[in-house]
Amino acid sequence: MLSSRMQDAFNSQINAELYSSYLYLSMSSYFADRNLPGFANWMRIQAQEELLHAMKFFDFVMERKGRAILKNIETPPAEWKGPQDIFEAAYKHEQHVTALINNLVGLAMDEKDYASNAFLQWFVNEQVEEEAAADHIVEQLRLIDQSKGGLFMLDRELGQRVFTAPATNSEGT
Ligand code: FEO
Repeated sequence: MLSSRMQDAFNSQINAELYSSYLYLSMSSYFADRNLPGFANWMRIQAQEELLHAMKFFDFVMERKGRAILKNIETPPAEWKGPQDIFEAAYKHEQHVTALINNLVGLAMDEKDYASNAFLQWFVNEQVEEEAAADHIVEQLRLIDQSKGGLFMLDRELGQRVFTAPATNSEGT
């Protein structure tokens, strides 16, 4: 059984993951509108991954006999200055999510909720990958430095990303 503090915190995280999905979907739409289908594809898959993160939290709350109380999802931005601005925003957003996950781990430890702590470790590892993936593309965009040829090549590369769903149970992996 989840404590009410832990349940509230998990409910906030469900909302944060759904917002992440909304944010990346908005970024996908921006890229599609600017004829960069590969970038749009990468962001669309990122949005799918975030939905899956939200569902992992949702399922875990259910498993622990809690209630998932759903809240309003904030409106994400719709405009950016260009690809580099977007990926810098995505990297910053992932750093923010990492801080949220770390706070959840801290709360689970305070509450001596070892099951939640174990569950959260999947997200601790996932955030390392999430930050690295966004940062890698920021660095590539810096190298390209707005060259049209470079942008075209990167768009082709990002168009190859495919969605692979990890296990949705609380053990992750
Ligand atoms: Fe669900 Fe990108 O963190």
